[in-house]
Amino acid sequence: MTTTEPERTLVLIKPDGVARQLTGEILRRIEAKGYTITALEQRTVGADLLTEHYAEHEGKPFFEPLLEFMTSGPLVAAIVEGNGVIEGFRSLAGATNPTSAAPGTIRGDLGRDWGTTVQQNLVHGSDSPESAAREIGIWFPQR
Ligand code: PPS
Repeated sequence: MTTTEPERTLVLIKPDGVARQLTGEILRRIEAKGYTITALEQRTVGADLLTEHYAEHEGKPFFEPLLEFMTSGPLVAAIVEGNGVIEGFRSLAGATNPTSAAPGTIRGDLGRDWGTTVQQNLVHGSDSPESAAREIGIWFPQR
């Protein structure tokens, strides 16, 4: 009999989520959905790591403000496991823009439109198995 590893995704609770003391609420929603948090670390990170993380967005108008926001204070990085967790966490998170994110989602219920050029949208989740493997390698190289 072969056993398959559960799917993994990289979740970030962005500096706005940590500053607004929503870490517990966001982790609660992840666990209530039945996913397992297998690594969890609060860190303040620099531009080098984030340039690697957001490499595909380098050159876009929101790239520099995004780096400034993401380095502005502590964030929480986590590896989350579960069947279909990559798509499932993105459903839990809701649409990128908190204004259009549906009620019931993290961004829809808790996100605010701050009127800035960057989306302070509380969380990040990997968007594909390839991204998840790459991002987990950046944030948790030992895992
Ligand atoms: S894109 O351009 O369609 O690929 O953008 P998207 O995949 O929706 O999001 C890219 C990440 O940048 C963050 N971000 C913004 N995206 C679009 N517009 C603005 N103004 C913006 N500001 C920040 C967005 O939240 C995505 O980051 P993550 O960490 O993946 O949520």
